[in-house]
Amino acid sequence: MDFNFELPKVNLLFGKGVSVKISEEVKKLGDNVLLVTGRNSMDQLGFTQKIIDHLKNHVIKVTVFNKITPNPTTELVDEGAKVALENKCNVIIGLGGGSSIDAAKAIAIVAGHSSTLNRTCSGSGQGEFQSIWAFSPSQSTPLPITSKTLPIVAITSSSGTGSHVTRFSVITNLELKQKMGIYSQHIFPKLSVVDLEILTNMPPALTAECGVDVLTHCLEGLVSKNCNPITEEMALKGIELVFNYLTDTYRNGDNIRSRGAMALADTYAGFVITTSRVVLPHAMSHPISAYYPNISHGAALAALTPHIMQFNIENGDNTTLQKYCLASGAMGKRAFGTNKYEAMKSVEAVKELLKKIGMDKGLQELGVDPGSINNMVKSAMVTGQGPIESNPVEVKENDIVRIYKLSLGK
Ligand code: NZQ
Ligand code: MN
Repeated sequence: MDFNFELPKVNLLFGKGVSVKISEEVKKLGDNVLLVTGRNSMDQLGFTQKIIDHLKNHVIKVTVFNKITPNPTTELVDEGAKVALENKCNVIIGLGGGSSIDAAKAIAIVAGHSSTLNRTCSGSGQGEFQSIWAFSPSQSTPLPITSKTLPIVAITSSSGTGSHVTRFSVITNLELKQKMGIYSQHIFPKLSVVDLEILTNMPPALTAECGVDVLTHCLEGLVSKNCNPITEEMALKGIELVFNYLTDTYRNGDNIRSRGAMALADTYAGFVITTSRVVLPHAMSHPISAYYPNISHGAALAALTPHIMQFNIENGDNTTLQKYCLASGAMGKRAFGTNKYEAMKSVEAVKELLKKIGMDKGLQELGVDPGSINNMVKSAMVTGQGPIESNPVEVKENDIVRIYKLSLGK
């Protein structure tokens, strides 16, 4: 029963229209904002302008960096950090999905640490600028992420990654073909905003992809070796919410009640991965996006998850089976006793849900060339070490090969 539960240090604002009520909180953090967002959606829907107007009305300076793409890259982060430094920004706001929030977090790391270098190198201009990848755990000696990180505000436009309440920033290095979570307690957003008005604009495909992400965070956190009793409750509640509300949210995107439930599930799931840990599906999904940046995080997870659940159930100990049986119950398929048959009900339930929301696609259908499996395995062994170690069942390299192959089809 011994465990450590570090509370996420986030001030969370949740509700309809709350994103244009943030100035008082932002002012406590600084007066010169870099607003980081994607290339289209937030601008087209008018939210970027609404937030700029709101901040400017409260005498907060705003510079916009609207270049973030899904699966954000080291280059974009470094470019954004230079814009933050040039404009002497002292707060970074991420407005958008996980990609924009993660990019904002990473920009806050780079700009925060580089501006300090500026001060020590008096008169030398830009100072020693360190790329975000220097802070990545894939380095033999990553640069430490400290309290020099600029304060971060997250305004989430999708209910999937939980990034608005996590200590992760997931960044892709296209050159090395590595995608990985950079993490620190210093990148918890100081202020996190879940505005249902923004979320009701998520198109059905994004709703489905993000819903799968929420589900896997809860499922993985639940079975992770690092799960604790508090996390377990949040994970089960998150699974229950996904099973009760995702299909309706997918079909009726503007139903505020379902959107609210999914936003809550996303938030629980964020707490889950921050206080437990993701396991094998996430370790294996990141190399897919690293090699195929157009495949979404949720789609990669959907192709892998049923196979990995089955692998864990077939090889799992009693505690693992118990966890999957609890999951079956949260999915509305009550388990009678603890055994593989009852645990497998959760796999069947996940498959049914994926089908209902159009996410029952194998890797090959998503565009993965079977010839790239060996490279993805190598990438997973480097970038997925932590999640692989947290998997409830020991994973060998040939297990990863086998699961990628099984996931090629449906
Ligand atoms: O690019 P724009 O124009 O902004 O449009 C986005 C993007 O094209 C669009 N979109 C987002 N919100 C919308 C919207 N369109 C209409 N209405 C809205 N309300 O959707 C597309 C996908 O956006 P993206 O931010 O990439 O999606 P998501 O939220 O799923 O984020 C995925 C990224 O987060 C990482 C993933 O690996 C991936 O890189 N993750 C971050 C985690 C974390 N920080 O804790 C944990 C997760 O496991 C995950 O790895
Ligand atoms: Mn995820």
